[in-house]
Amino acid sequence: MLEANFFTDANFVQYRTLVYNESGIHFTPTNRSILESRLREQLREKHIDSVQEYYSLITSNKNALQDFLDSVTTNLTRFFRNQAHFDTLEHYILPELMKIKKDNHLIKVWSAGCSTGEEPYSIAMVMTEVLPPTWKFEIVASDLSLKCLVAGKEGFYPDNRIEGIPMEYLRKYFDKVDGGYKIHSDIASKIRFDYHNLKNVSGFHSLDLVFCRNVIIYFDEAAQAAVINKFWDTMSSKSFLFIGHSESLFGMDTKFEFVKTQWATLYRKFV
Ligand SMILES: C[S@@+](CC[C@H](N)C(=O)[O-])C[C@H]1O[C@@H](n2cnc3c(N)ncnc32)[C@H](O)[C@@H]1O
Repeated sequence: MLEANFFTDANFVQYRTLVYNESGIHFTPTNRSILESRLREQLREKHIDSVQEYYSLITSNKNALQDFLDSVTTNLTRFFRNQAHFDTLEHYILPELMKIKKDNHLIKVWSAGCSTGEEPYSIAMVMTEVLPPTWKFEIVASDLSLKCLVAGKEGFYPDNRIEGIPMEYLRKYFDKVDGGYKIHSDIASKIRFDYHNLKNVSGFHSLDLVFCRNVIIYFDEAAQAAVINKFWDTMSSKSFLFIGHSESLFGMDTKFEFVKTQWATLYRKFV
């Protein structure tokens, strides 16, 4: 049983520094209780009764650290989250990319911080609908949470998680199975789920479109700028970036241009 004061101010500084250095996720004194409750769950699950002992474990064992970082992430997501972004994809980005990529007919997308897959599957359904048959696309979907990646790969969504999927897409791209819906394998085959920590260089390149929505909101300014600048390096000379609607690059030293469409705002790299 953990004592009520199992997590001192000094422990908070130690843990928040580790989480920040390893992931960019920034715990402030205001959201300390979130870190504390996640930590409490980890200690209980692993039958460890001191934060010091757990700290020694996660700083000496890579898998344990991955597991801990997974536990502090917030994975809230849903299909077609912020519909205006998907309208922008359909009516603005894909027509633009079809002009830009008219010579090779391949569009490369990255869903960075994809959580359990609803975002990349939503993108894949729109692209399947809109792109003519001679066009191909591939999506890499990455996250820091292995649990989320496993769920995304599985492509099964319980009945209470399918809200937001247009009825015709549900009929066309999913099979009804016990307790929920399973995505069709031809859509799933367009997506590669990949473990990637946005603190690190990805090795991805020539991307035409990056979705990184509701991820950098958990980072401080320095970590946000580092991630955004890394995106720049992975993207094609003419390409597009979505961030979450409550996130902004305003005031950040970046070369991305702000674009306002009739559906939503986004950023572009045009060099
Ligand atoms: C709130 S979810 C957003 C999911 C989806 N993009 C959306 O907008 O619905 C944020 C995701 O970012 C991931 N994440 C947070 N920090 C990360 C990092 N440093 N590297 C990779 N993924 C990270 C979390 O694991 C989580 O699944």
